[in-house]
Amino acid sequence: MTQIFYFGTNTKMYMTSTQTVEFVQNLVSLTKDVNREENTLFVIPSFISLESARNSVLRDDLLLGGQNVHWEEEGQFTGEISVKMLTDIGADLIMIAHSERRQLFGETDYTANKRLMTTLNKGLIALYCVGESADHKDIGITQEILRTQLLVGLHGITVEQTRNLWIAYEPVWAIGIHGQPADKNHVNFSHMKIRKTLVERFGSRGNEIPILYGGSVNKENATDYATLKSVNGLFIGRSAWDAELFSLIIHDTIASRKKVLGDSV
Ligand code: PGA
Repeated sequence: MTQIFYFGTNTKMYMTSTQTVEFVQNLVSLTKDVNREENTLFVIPSFISLESARNSVLRDDLLLGGQNVHWEEEGQFTGEISVKMLTDIGADLIMIAHSERRQLFGETDYTANKRLMTTLNKGLIALYCVGESADHKDIGITQEILRTQLLVGLHGITVEQTRNLWIAYEPVWAIGIHGQPADKNHVNFSHMKIRKTLVERFGSRGNEIPILYGGSVNKENATDYATLKSVNGLFIGRSAWDAELFSLIIHDTIASRKKVLGDSV
């Protein structure tokens, strides 16, 4: 069975609606030849860009996601956004607990759990971001941190709900302009530990949950990560915000995976 490979980007607090529309349209036209039965492409733009992005490209070509969500259905939560609102404007998925949300906006594994619950209960895909800090890595507790983030964040999630669950492993120290690209052995190690916890938690169904890698992925290192059997997708920031560069990374990655992993992909 062919395992789907995932390519996605979160555009953070960059790009207006107009820029987002141009970006997604370019991306779709540059990746027309990419087999969507073997590869899933997604973009997570700002909330205000979602609707116009949705109206400008087909869901079959590109999934779109929200960068966050509140756990309540509605209520007195000024400045927040609900799953229903995101679904209404065409979101297919919701990213939860990106490291910038954890670091800058006080989000925790507990709030991630509530957001995950709501998202999965409403039938959207949840992309749960996990990753250790530089201190955690230096102390040597990467494995323990990932396990805790998974066990707390996924508390109460059923085996059935995992059909809509994706994980992004993004070491905090590897993300953004100050990030250091991770060694591929470290990526492999962490992905294997994440897989182990998912299987422990959900039985054999844990083997089916995609685990994407993110953190300073670029044209030079993308294929190193993507040819690891433990990596099921790439979640890219800066290097994906130029549609041509993103498309190049996608095409290079698909070709390298076929070459290195052969029939198993
Ligand atoms: P980066 O961002 O690729 O620019 O490091 C990754 C992320 O924040 O998901």
